[in-house]
Amino acid sequence: MNSEVVSADSKPAVERSIVSPVKLAHFVLRTSRYQEMVRWYKTVFGARGVFENELLSFLTYDDEHHRVAILNMPGLADQKEGFCGLHHAAFTYGSLGELMSTYERLRDLGIKPVFVINHGPTTSLYYSDPDSNQLELQVENYDSVTESTQFFYSPAFAENPIGVEFDPDDMLRRLKAGEPEAELKRRPDAGKRGLADIKLRYAYLCCQRCALIGKTKRAL
Ligand SMILES: [Fe+2]
Repeated sequence: MNSEVVSADSKPAVERSIVSPVKLAHFVLRTSRYQEMVRWYKTVFGARGVFENELLSFLTYDDEHHRVAILNMPGLADQKEGFCGLHHAAFTYGSLGELMSTYERLRDLGIKPVFVINHGPTTSLYYSDPDSNQLELQVENYDSVTESTQFFYSPAFAENPIGVEFDPDDMLRRLKAGEPEAELKRRPDAGKRGLADIKLRYAYLCCQRCALIGKTKRAL
C-alpha cells in the first residue's frame, strides 16, 4: 500500500484539471416520522428552520441556507439490514470540549450515542436518529489534517483500523477535572481490532461479507 500522505497538490496535472465541489452542502432525508425527525435534528445540531411546512423542513446551524432537509412521506417502510446505502454522515466540532458538552447536553435530554470510539485520527460519538440513520459527531485528534492523515499510515492503524472504545462519562469527568484535551484524545493501545468490533448498524453484516470475500479470494 502507498504509504505517502496524498495531498491535493501532489495530484498529477491531468487530475488537477478536474473541478471538484467546493464543499459538502447538505443531505436530505425522507421520513414517515416527520415531526419527530425535525425535532431530533433541531435538538442535536442546535439547528433552526429556514423554511418549514407540512411537507418539507430546511434546517441550518450555520451560514449555509440549509444543511439538512427533511421530507414528509407517510407510509414509508423502515430501513432493513441487507440493503446498500449511506452508512453514516460525520460532523466535526471545534474542540473536545465542544464535542463533550454536546454529549452532556444530549445525554441529559435522553439522546445517547450508540457507539463511542477513539478512531485515532478522530474521537467520535455515533448517534442513531429516529429512523435509524447514523450520525458521527467527532473532533479531530491532531492539530492539522496532515497529522491526522498520517495516522492512517501508522503501524497502530494497520493493527487496529477501527479504534478504541471509551466511556463518555469518564471522558467528561476527566475533561472537567482539567486533563489536557491532547492527552484525552490520544488513542490508547488496545491491540488488534476488526470490523466485528464496530457496534453500528450493518457493521456485522459487512464483516460477514468481507470475511466471505476474503475466503473466496483465498480459494481462487
Ligand atoms: Fe466516519
